[in-house]
Parts: sequence; C-alpha cells; structure tokens
Amino acid sequence: MVKKCFLIFTLALSLEAKSLYEHHCVSCHDGMTITLEKFFFRYLLKYSSEAEVQKALFAYMKNPKAETSILEPWLINRIGIKKPTTLNDKELDAALKDYWEQHKVFGKLK
Ligand code: HEC
Repeated sequence: MVKKCFLIFTLALSLEAKSLYEHHCVSCHDGMTITLEKFFFRYLLKYSSEAEVQKALFAYMKNPKAETSILEPWLINRIGIKKPTTLNDKELDAALKDYWEQHKVFGKLK
C-alpha cells in the first residue's frame, strides 16, 4: 500500500514537472522574439555540459542579473532583466530538467 502510494506520488510529480515547464516557463516566454530554444543553445555553447548548463540556468533563474545574463548588454537593456523565479528549488530543478530534455533531442546547433 505504501509502495503504491509512493508510485502514484512519483508519477504525479513527474507529470507535474512537465506541466510546470510548459505552463510556467513556456507560457511566459511564448511570443518573445528570442525563443527558449535560442536561449538554450546559447547556454549550451557557453557551458557545454549538462551539469554546467543546469548550474548556470539554476543560478540565473534564482538571481537574474545583467552581468550573468547570456544576452548582450544592449539586448538586456531593451528587454529588461527577468524577475527571480517563483518556483521553489525542487520545482525549478524539475522544470530545468524538462527544458534540457526537450531541447537536447530536437535541437540542432547553429
Ligand atoms: C514571468 C515571465 C517568465 C517566466 C515565468 C520565465 N521566464 Fe525566462 N525570461 C523571461 C524574460 C523577460 C527573459 C529575458 C530577460 C533576461 O534574460 O533576464 C528571460 C530569459 C530567460 C533565459 C535567458 C537567460 C539569460 O542568460 O539572460 C532563459 C534560459 C530562460 N529565460 C529560461 C526560462 C525557464 C527555463 C523558465 C522556467 C523555469 C523561465 N525562463 C521562466 C521571462 C520569464
């Protein structure tokens, strides 16, 4: 019984994680000139490994600053810095994993 509950709980969490990325990240980014995909490849080119990309993204979402942004200063000046994430660490981690999963497969380096 306990095992079953745990299974359902884990399943619910993973479903939640997917919708978190879709509903939280994608919904706000929808319609922005620079797509999430472009951001992703900029991060990939700069940080290379999954661990480093995740670390850099996590840090930026928590505490976005012009100095640590991947964007050029003139662009940041135009768009403005985003607000720190409202997700907790676990949620952010899950959303970023999903972000990685969705782009590593389909994307092509340009
Ligand atoms: C409320 C709106 C909003 C939400 C929610 C949001 N973003 Fe953003 N995001 C922005 C804006 C605006 C920018 C451009 C300004 C900037 O880079 O700080 C941005 C920039 C970024 C960048 C580029 C960062 C950089 O170095 O400048 C990445 C990557 C990104 N978002 C990923 C995500 C992910 C992943 C999530 C979900 C965990 C997310 N965003 C949630 C609005 C949002």
